[in-house]
Amino acid sequence: MSVSMNRRWLFEKRPEGPVGAHNFRWTQAEIPSPGEGQMLVRNLWLDVAPTQVLSLTAPPEAGGRPPGTLMEGFASSQVIESRIPQFSPGDIIYAASGWEDYSVIDGKGYWDAIKVSPGVSPNLAAGALGITGIVAYFGVTEVATPRPGETFVVSAAAGGVGSIAAQVAKILGLRVIGIAGGKEKRDWLLSEARVDGAIDHRSEKVASRLDALCPEGIDIYFDNVGGPILDLALERLRSHGRIVLCGTTARYRPTTRVPGPLNYAQLIMVNGRMEGLLGRDYFHRFPEAIASLKGWLDSGQLKTKEDVVVGLEYAPAALARLFSGDNVGKQLVKIADPPLNVDATKVLIGGSS
Ligand SMILES: NC(=O)c1ccc[n+]([C@@H]2O[C@H](COP(=O)([O-])OP(=O)(O)OC[C@H]3O[C@@H](n4cnc5c(N)ncnc54)[C@H](OP(=O)(O)O)[C@@H]3O)[C@@H](O)[C@H]2O)c1
Repeated sequence: MSVSMNRRWLFEKRPEGPVGAHNFRWTQAEIPSPGEGQMLVRNLWLDVAPTQVLSLTAPPEAGGRPPGTLMEGFASSQVIESRIPQFSPGDIIYAASGWEDYSVIDGKGYWDAIKVSPGVSPNLAAGALGITGIVAYFGVTEVATPRPGETFVVSAAAGGVGSIAAQVAKILGLRVIGIAGGKEKRDWLLSEARVDGAIDHRSEKVASRLDALCPEGIDIYFDNVGGPILDLALERLRSHGRIVLCGTTARYRPTTRVPGPLNYAQLIMVNGRMEGLLGRDYFHRFPEAIASLKGWLDSGQLKTKEDVVVGLEYAPAALARLFSGDNVGKQLVKIADPPLNVDATKVLIGGSS
């Protein structure tokens, strides 16, 4: 396939079970040209997130993606040609884009396009320093209202959001317990993220391990999955405990929709609070979060863990990894390296991929 063509993944068929390549169609088209108020970008790294499956399972009347349309998602990209005054050829940006080599975008979306700061690599921009990191940062520092010494429990703790939430909580002086699936994730949490305790929910009984690791109960539960683990955390919530509802990955599959929490009345008994976290609300504070996260990354206090799938053709497989639990760290798809010189003609004909 010629590199001057645009390889693309179209959404084809609503998932009725686990999502995978069978839900998409691999195709190619001419590289598009930007109109007024648009820019042509070359996508470099795709930010793959569980929430993306929601637009595939919902019917079109409920906002679901119509079959036959491009699979959309956030990416770090390089501007090739711009008809938007604030973006220039060569800029590396993080923006709403699509599962294709080249996209024409207007820079608007769930979050408007931002320029990636110098010194931030495109993979970091799509991962720890993208929506993933920002949500983890504000979920811990603001929604959780943490106090040093408190017991903080986080699920999907070795995933994109969870791995950063766990470490930010550690940096703020909390006692952190991570719950994750599998030995590799558990080992990473203990050795690299340096949490105080880790539970492998695949091989251990979460309830008894929580009792052992949190004998006084849980002050903060940062929830990435929902389902039975949320109930176990509710049961153990301490007086004035907080639950940060970041995500409900266990509920995203159409065939395995689990009910909401059974133990929610526990919130009354402990004067507890359960609060939803919406990353979009913090868009205007992006620079503040990036400054803190980047500072901790540079000083070595914060470690990133990336799970990189190489090649646009494997994007559906990368999405599936989030639901099988195969991803260790932030799930990314690498499409291309940024070319050193941006000359639209040369990039389109001879860019690396
Ligand atoms: N509120 C917001 O604005 C916002 C923004 C971004 C992301 N999010 C949410 O944050 C959560 C984490 O996103 P992420 O991108 O960092 O993904 P992730 O945690 O890296 O990947 C998903 C993980 O969820 C766990 N999982 C998968 N299926 C599960 C199931 N049926 N039951 C329990 N656990 C399951 C697996 O971890 P284990 O193997 O460890 O179980 C898997 O690795 C998602 O729910 C996402 O929607 C929210």
